[in-house]
Amino acid sequence: MSKDLLSEIDKDHFREQFNKYTRKAFHMLPKLEKPHILDIGCGSGVPTIELAKLSNGEIIGIDINQSLLDKLNRKIEEEGFSNRVKTVKCSLFEIDFPDESFDIIWAEGSIWIIGFEKGLKEWRRLLKPNGFLVVHDEIKTVSNKLKKIPSCGYKLIDYFSLPQDAWWTEYYRPLETRIKEIYTKYKNDSEALKILKKYQNEIDMVKKNPRNYGSAYYIMEKLKKKCSNHK
Ligand SMILES: C[S@@+](CC[C@H](N)C(=O)[O-])C[C@H]1O[C@@H](n2cnc3c(N)ncnc32)[C@H](O)[C@@H]1O
Repeated sequence: MSKDLLSEIDKDHFREQFNKYTRKAFHMLPKLEKPHILDIGCGSGVPTIELAKLSNGEIIGIDINQSLLDKLNRKIEEEGFSNRVKTVKCSLFEIDFPDESFDIIWAEGSIWIIGFEKGLKEWRRLLKPNGFLVVHDEIKTVSNKLKKIPSCGYKLIDYFSLPQDAWWTEYYRPLETRIKEIYTKYKNDSEALKILKKYQNEIDMVKKNPRNYGSAYYIMEKLKKKCSNHK
């Protein structure tokens, strides 16, 4: 049942509303021929698939959640990207690709797991010289984050925040409408109601104070010079 319910809610459909921001960030990078891209914390791969459409590159998506990777694998097959998009189950704390493997590292909604500064420092070795790191992270402490970028061995190319309330108007509000639509169908199913309630609690938190849920994209280039205390 919960599988049917989750596919009926289809969060990815709402997440896709944000593909326009993924495209905006990608177009801030110089044009690269067949870039090697690592998508860290790719989940079910909404940005991963968009990156495959935007570039003619090879993309590896990593995540620790196998069921999300399975979902992404199905999309890769459906979209005909099997020859250049792959998934690897791996923790972002234990990435063991060789140094300088990637032209671009992409991380939407995942750097908070390791921390902005630590993520920048640890992932730097994976980038080729003058490679690029694009991070989509919460807007909180933006000025602090911007200050950390040079000391972690990157140059800020640009950054932009999503419009205020975007998470509410473009994601959570439409998701709430979908939840309400399917609630009636599952009203006698306690297992389903538990899941719907969990979603509704998250929605209610955002609804109370939509402006607390801003996020921003940071577009960075790896500098040749190493940081004083890090590779
Ligand atoms: C907010 S989701 C973002 C998913 C996707 N990047 C997107 O923007 O739609 C965060 C993802 O990080 C993954 N994650 C959590 N801990 C992780 C870890 N230690 N290593 C790798 N991925 C992790 C979760 O499974 C989840 O898919």
